Amino acid sequence: MCGIVGYIGPRDATPIILNGLKRLEYRGYDSAGIAVFNGGQLEVRKDAGKLSQLIDLVNKSPINGAPGIGHTRWATHGAPSQRNAHPHVSRNGRVVVVQNGIVENFLELKEELMAEGVEFQSDTDTETIVHLVEHYLATGLDLVEAARRTFNQIQGANVVVLMSADEPDKIVTARIGNAGGVVIGLGEDENFLASDTPAIMDHTRNVIFLESRQMATVTRSDVCIQTLDGNKIKPQTHSVSWDPVAAEKGEYRHFMQKEIHEQVRAVTDTLAGRVDFGRGEIRLPDLKLTKELANKIEKIYITACGTAAYAGMVGKYLIEKIARVPTEVVIASEFRYSDPVVDDKTVVLAISQSGETADTLAAMEEGRRKGAVVWSIVNAIGSQAMRTADGFISMQTGPEIGVASTKAFVAPLVDQYMLAILLADLRGVIDEKTRKALVADLRLIPDLVGRTLDREAEVEKVAYALKDVRDCLYLGRGINMPIAYEGALKLKEISYIHAEGYPAGEMKHGPIALIDKAMPVVCLAPKDPWHEKMISQIQQAKARGGTVIAIATDGDELIDGMADHILWVPETPWMLLPVVTVLPLQMLAYHIAAIRGLDIDQPRNLAKSVTVE
Ligand code: AGP
Repeated sequence: MCGIVGYIGPRDATPIILNGLKRLEYRGYDSAGIAVFNGGQLEVRKDAGKLSQLIDLVNKSPINGAPGIGHTRWATHGAPSQRNAHPHVSRNGRVVVVQNGIVENFLELKEELMAEGVEFQSDTDTETIVHLVEHYLATGLDLVEAARRTFNQIQGANVVVLMSADEPDKIVTARIGNAGGVVIGLGEDENFLASDTPAIMDHTRNVIFLESRQMATVTRSDVCIQTLDGNKIKPQTHSVSWDPVAAEKGEYRHFMQKEIHEQVRAVTDTLAGRVDFGRGEIRLPDLKLTKELANKIEKIYITACGTAAYAGMVGKYLIEKIARVPTEVVIASEFRYSDPVVDDKTVVLAISQSGETADTLAAMEEGRRKGAVVWSIVNAIGSQAMRTADGFISMQTGPEIGVASTKAFVAPLVDQYMLAILLADLRGVIDEKTRKALVADLRLIPDLVGRTLDREAEVEKVAYALKDVRDCLYLGRGINMPIAYEGALKLKEISYIHAEGYPAGEMKHGPIALIDKAMPVVCLAPKDPWHEKMISQIQQAKARGGTVIAIATDGDELIDGMADHILWVPETPWMLLPVVTVLPLQMLAYHIAAIRGLDIDQPRNLAKSVTVE
């Protein structure tokens, strides 16, 4: 997970930045770098590897002065290397940038810049930003306006931080799209900024959180905030608690809400180091998937519990659709007792955020006993499910604290999409063009997630309408059917409202009897291959007096006017839709529970890690 720390003030920036980056180290990264202005002279140190290597570099060749910015990178564009590490410097050596996120339109921007004669020094998308800023500065604009123009050209969910040797009295930062956060820490004659609150908590508790599509100009004595459209905003200062747990929550009321909003970052980070957008390739080195093994596999069993199992159900669609490998999902607590047909041509793929769930570990063990290749998709680094697997994919989303799993649900959706592409490629079932198109769609995901999360206020209104219901039915079809299960699970586990997820086509075989005025029906009806079927489902529910809450794609006129409430999601490539459609359901469950005043992060009777059978 990329981290950013910045400092402006009378002290040396280097130790402040390195200590801040250290606080973010546990989130994972593959390279690190720092840029500091020393008497107007820009100095950069960066390298692949751990922060300790950067610290060695700085010890050998110290950099003093301020302001400064530092970054830990997880590669998305170009391998982890010295040249791809941030910060990136403009051609004239006057401007420097760090970024978290993916510049979706970087190929177009890069082509335009190259046509103007810009030679790129790295393979990164980030480098386009610094060249664009330099381009606008050359037209006579000041840094803030050059940065603003640049931010408006970038598509994606990104956090960007910039400095210029010609205006060393300021750091400019922006939150473009609903990217992971930017927190600005306010000091006495000095200011700080970071991607995460813990990075600056040694220095100040008074902070400003940037909202989506806002930028800030940070000087020693002032913070000026404006929207990316150029409208000035009066900053709202928050006082962050000294309690480290509360400090970690930052601007959010609960960890679950924080983790819901961290999903832009979660999907970006799980791509990090795995996707080469330039070549349109997927690499999952920890999975140890060779061409020989890919061609040997005859069947995949996905095994997991609860939310992780629902993620696996989406994975089944993806693996079968893209790689054409027969795939079955078996709830882990059933797997070992069902005498599954497993041999050495079978893969048992376990999904678990904790990596310590007893039933999931037992299912992995059963797979191994029967001779299968055992893989896992795990969030907790070093957990048993990671250690004991023949190959694994790390979700790379950082710790999940809320008992109700959110970011550890969307990350494995993206991981399984990548796995399906890799498998398909190695088995020769997709051509290069299809592979590149599937990989290119991944670029869109962080921004789509961010835009969906931006609609939280509308979800909250619907939450008020549903806060007193006793039961709720969730219906979905095809790739969105597991999202109906997951939406219902989220609601029941944190709001204690009885909720059922159902394959929509099954409604007429029984559950339709339940529908009346008191039974809201949440219908997943985005524009996917099952869209028309879901429309008729909505009509059937309405005909029986049900209150329908539809999850629908922006601009869907068929649904507009048909459902009682609509939670809109942006148009999304259909195989990646579950990453987006689950978000309003997470927010809905969260807000209903919040309105009911419940203990959201630690719901009754539940544990984060279920280590007993
Ligand atoms: C999710 O919100 C639940 N708390 C629960 O279903 C969870 O997903 C399940 O217990 C599996 O946990 P794991 O991912 O740690 O294996």
